[in-house]
Amino acid sequence: MMSQEQNDLITRVSRKDPCGKLMRMYWQPAALVDELQGERAVRPVKLLGENLVLFRDKDGRYGLIDRHCAHRGADLAFGRLEHGGLRCAFHGWLFDTSGQCLETPAEPVGSQLCKGIKQRAYPVVEKSGILWAYLGEGEPPAFPELDCFTAPDSHTFAFKGHWGCNWLQALEVGIDPSHASFLHRFFEDEDTSTAYGKQFRGASAGTDMPMTKIMREFDRPIINVEHTEYGLRLITLRQIDEERTHVRVTNQVFPHGFVLPMSTEMTITQWHVPVDDENCYWYAIFTSFTNPVDKQKMREQRLELYELPDYKSRKNKSNDYGFDPHEQATETYTGMGADINVHDQWAVESMGAIQDRTNEHLGQSDKAIVQYRRLLRAEIEKVAGGEKPLLFLDAASARSIQGPATMDGIGPTQGWELYWMEVDVKRRRGAPWAAPVPREIAGKVQHLTAAE
Ligand code: FES
Ligand SMILES: [Fe+2]
Repeated sequence: MMSQEQNDLITRVSRKDPCGKLMRMYWQPAALVDELQGERAVRPVKLLGENLVLFRDKDGRYGLIDRHCAHRGADLAFGRLEHGGLRCAFHGWLFDTSGQCLETPAEPVGSQLCKGIKQRAYPVVEKSGILWAYLGEGEPPAFPELDCFTAPDSHTFAFKGHWGCNWLQALEVGIDPSHASFLHRFFEDEDTSTAYGKQFRGASAGTDMPMTKIMREFDRPIINVEHTEYGLRLITLRQIDEERTHVRVTNQVFPHGFVLPMSTEMTITQWHVPVDDENCYWYAIFTSFTNPVDKQKMREQRLELYELPDYKSRKNKSNDYGFDPHEQATETYTGMGADINVHDQWAVESMGAIQDRTNEHLGQSDKAIVQYRRLLRAEIEKVAGGEKPLLFLDAASARSIQGPATMDGIGPTQGWELYWMEVDVKRRRGAPWAAPVPREIAGKVQHLTAAE
């Protein structure tokens, strides 16, 4: 159990909060590239509690600036996108992507007022379908060479969704391997060939056993947590019998991301990005190691649940997440339909806007969460002491963070330690793009890497 102060320390992210200072050391997803398509490339964005407006000027440059105009505070999300930048609709002040005021047209001819006026502005870069912003001070870090950033555009797809809760409880569901056996339980298995684009519905690698069956029948996993250069690696074991063990390898990528296997074909890299202390967006990049991603299908599947322009879920607290007690008795554990995103959303939103961790009771199965919080506190302290935190990378060190390796498959009960690496390396070898074998596992599977 923790004190209220400890809970505040690891959850609150405004500019003045210690965890907010940590979060400002990293690039943050600010919007999908898709959101700035169309005639008027202007979107209000709330990020780490800051009200901002994101726009693309006529020259294709992105700007992320304070939402309230430096003149008298009108809302720039309603501004006019004009040559040179974004013009406030109140008195016509014009701002470029760096936040510099270029014109104050109501002032007398020859006025120099605009020269000294600057909106707060943050750098924005585009990467794998997401627009990333750096809200910190000084030079931003380099991006690690994760698979989702290395794969070609044809092999990635990005999407997002809103959850009405603090970012930390949202992240914690992603490093909680045991919940899948309960929250996402299906009493019947589907035909696994229809599983494209859905998590936990395909077959596990090396078998035609549906993941739903494994999750349902083996519900007391052994969870191993290892510290890595990028965060944590979770190896979750479900022993099927003397010979066979189900192995699932997932990763926490510091500070608020994770990388999971979605199917034998795709991985999900997902970040839980604070909008403010009580709301977050999950941003995901789906990365394929085989065929190009069917983006249209992926988008359509997700738009069934998420409504534009805010990517809010149609199933939410106001309609009990579609809860059906008959379904709960006969088909699913939650009674909230087959989409596991809804299950996760209910789980994390139902805790309350910020989970009251002064009242929780953690067990063995929460091991990764305990380790992660310890890491988070240590990194918050580092930043408070003026040091650089984990995964704040320069260009050289960014190249050493690759992968990370993931897998979901049935392997030998004796020897799973190497087996999962072999499955991951084989997948990389077979990929149509140059998927690097992460350095930290390459040395352990030399019989595979040296042969080619
Ligand atoms: S408030 Fe924006 S120009 Fe006056
Ligand atoms: Fe889940």
